[in-house]
Amino acid sequence: MSGRKPLIAGNWKMHKTIKETLDLINGIKAGLQGNEAADVLVAPPFTALSAAAGAIQGSTILLAGQNLHQEPSGAYTGEVSGQMIHDTGATHVIIGHSERRQYFGETDDLVNLKVKAALAAGLIPIFCLGETLGEREAGGTFEVLGRQLEGGLKGFSAEEAAKIIVAYEPVWAIGTGKTATNDQAQEVHYFLRGLLGKIFEKRLASETRILYGGSVKPDNAADLLACPDVDGALVGGASLKVDSFIGIIHFDR
Ligand code: PGA
Repeated sequence: MSGRKPLIAGNWKMHKTIKETLDLINGIKAGLQGNEAADVLVAPPFTALSAAAGAIQGSTILLAGQNLHQEPSGAYTGEVSGQMIHDTGATHVIIGHSERRQYFGETDDLVNLKVKAALAAGLIPIFCLGETLGEREAGGTFEVLGRQLEGGLKGFSAEEAAKIIVAYEPVWAIGTGKTATNDQAQEVHYFLRGLLGKIFEKRLASETRILYGGSVKPDNAADLLACPDVDGALVGGASLKVDSFIGIIHFDR
């Protein structure tokens, strides 16, 4: 896995009140004792970000938003800007999650604008991409992923791209209990790294963290993370409980 330190990121989606956020973060903090194998990040809902920022103080836990609006400010009722997320104390933001693409119509062009907005606000984007089951079965996996990667990162300099974390999440594996096999994950991560090398430069590609997401659990995390091009996990369901999230963070034990 070269010099890339694994990142275990919890995407809480539309779960957790402020009190539940504090309880979960305190539980993670306690469970982290002695962890050196991985960086750890949580992405609570917007309403709990400020409280979460307070709760992670004194720990190494990183904090992310789950989405942002592409404009820095304006008449966009109900939306949240990168600057507002940064202002809570968050340092990262998830962009282009398949649920955003599927339920909120986010296209590669919009994802591209959002990645730009995140960088402009000083946030590190966790840029998600992944194929549907239909696309995989039709043999279109690499074409779809290539289009999403090139579209999402269009117009970036190598310096900007070097800040981005990529997350491969096959849509058919999210919340379904079906995980990609190690071979399927490794094959895609290798492909994405190669493409990053072609679009930007080899060194950048070899330093970019590419996370895997989709039904990651304590009992499959070690195998997935043993793949040479898998640099961590974006975890949904299993990040909502202390035991399962800590079990993934301690994948090396
Ligand atoms: P899951 O979700 O772990 O529940 O499959 C992953 C994600 O959507 O990030």
